[in-house]
Amino acid sequence: MNDSFESERQLEYIEKIRKQNSGRTLKYCSVVFGCQMNEKDSEKLCGMLECMGYIKTEYEKDADLIIYNTCTVRENADKRLYGRLGVAKQYKRDNPDLIICLCGCMMQEEHVVQKINTSYPYVNLIFGTHNIFKFAELLYAVIETGDRVTDIWKETDLIVEDLPSRRKYPFKSGVNIMFGCDNFCSYCIVPYVRGRERSRKREDIINEIRALASDGVVEVMLLGQNVNSYGKGLSESVSFAELLDEAANIDGIKRVRFMTSHPKDLSDELIDTIRDNPVIARHIHLPLQSGSDRILSLMNRHYTKEDYLRLADQLRTKIPDISITTDIITGFPTEEEKDVEDTLDVIDKVCFDGAFTFEYSKRTGTAAAVMDGQLSKEKMQEFFDRVLKKVQETSKKQAMRFEGSEMDVLVEGINEKDPSMLTGRISQNNVVHFKNCGVSVGSFVKVRLDECQGFYYNGTQVF
Ligand code: SAH
Ligand code: SF4
Ligand code: F3S
Repeated sequence: MNDSFESERQLEYIEKIRKQNSGRTLKYCSVVFGCQMNEKDSEKLCGMLECMGYIKTEYEKDADLIIYNTCTVRENADKRLYGRLGVAKQYKRDNPDLIICLCGCMMQEEHVVQKINTSYPYVNLIFGTHNIFKFAELLYAVIETGDRVTDIWKETDLIVEDLPSRRKYPFKSGVNIMFGCDNFCSYCIVPYVRGRERSRKREDIINEIRALASDGVVEVMLLGQNVNSYGKGLSESVSFAELLDEAANIDGIKRVRFMTSHPKDLSDELIDTIRDNPVIARHIHLPLQSGSDRILSLMNRHYTKEDYLRLADQLRTKIPDISITTDIITGFPTEEEKDVEDTLDVIDKVCFDGAFTFEYSKRTGTAAAVMDGQLSKEKMQEFFDRVLKKVQETSKKQAMRFEGSEMDVLVEGINEKDPSMLTGRISQNNVVHFKNCGVSVGSFVKVRLDECQGFYYNGTQVF
């Protein structure tokens, strides 16, 4: 359900707070944990805050309002938040008017909200992932009453469009194409904290990208937990491949990325679409999680080692210059030596261009959390080290293959340590550093990749 009435209501609250804030210089600090979904949500929160008259600061200690957008995908994400909140207590002591807000995935867990209630009484506002659009209304209630406000929804079918947003980068932007996830991989908390899968309407997505393009954006990243199943439940029949192609054909858009693809839903149509449209990045992030059929089945991933190898082979055959990156979990319950060997074998065969390796983290409420055979810390660490070493080898080897080539590079920034240098990215997503010859951030230039440094290149601009 798409609700334009709701966005109008929220704009009224934004206006009320803006009036109250007028004549005062109030600063906000936005702290984001987690994935691109959270990054995108925080851009919306920042957009709303700026419309209310708040000015951004990078430092929590200078802020009149801090908003932490939380992640709970692994246990250390939770720990990081509690650490930050401990420090924020001091800021609150120094500035009793400081408003502390918490939102995001962690807040969808009951035990977290209970803990905040008992141990962090100085938090002013708590809301979740489903009602982020209500931020202005909830903040208004905090300001008016001085009380703590908590509003967590268990589910929603609402998609509220047209709220303000403040982009982190002027030249690139994430674009949500769907929310939530229905896959219930047995280790994963995301379906519980982000709710059921809901696709945005094709028209809304395309209009958003057109507006971004006319505002100077040249690269978009289509975002969803499983973009390959885009379109389910919409009245119009449209596949992810069709949406991707349409996005890549919008005037002014020069590069389109997408994240994340689930191997079980990766279609031939999608592979052909990437191959045939050079605006679509030569990069796919295709989480493997494990190379063992037994573990994959326990993980509820719905593909086998052979299925994955077949997909990778098709990608590499049809699109030879594509980079394939992945996520791998080590130490899943019952994992043994032979399972890890299967994972190492897939890494060798696919020769990943990059991989995020995670130690399995038990998440309350998931199926895997109650499985027998949880591994010891030592075993988990041993498996992790072996997998990490292997992916570092393959990604280095893969990066070498582009050494000496000339590539189109999107200039993303001026090097912080050395302003005479620029940093950019090739279509395959690798970073390149090269001398600043006066091109502007956000433009595309040709760069020769002179020297591969493992994960990045040193290059020279080609005129
Ligand atoms: N929707 C995306 C993943 C989102 S979470 C997908 O399916 O690919 C990002 C990554 O975190 C996952 O791919 C997985 O490798 C890792 N992850 C998720 N839950 C985890 C857990 N409980 N322990 C360790 N890693 C986990
Ligand atoms: Fe989690 Fe699996 Fe959904 Fe990804 S596809 S968010 S890993 S449940
Ligand atoms: Fe974390 Fe939520 Fe993303 S749990 S990984 S921020 S969807």
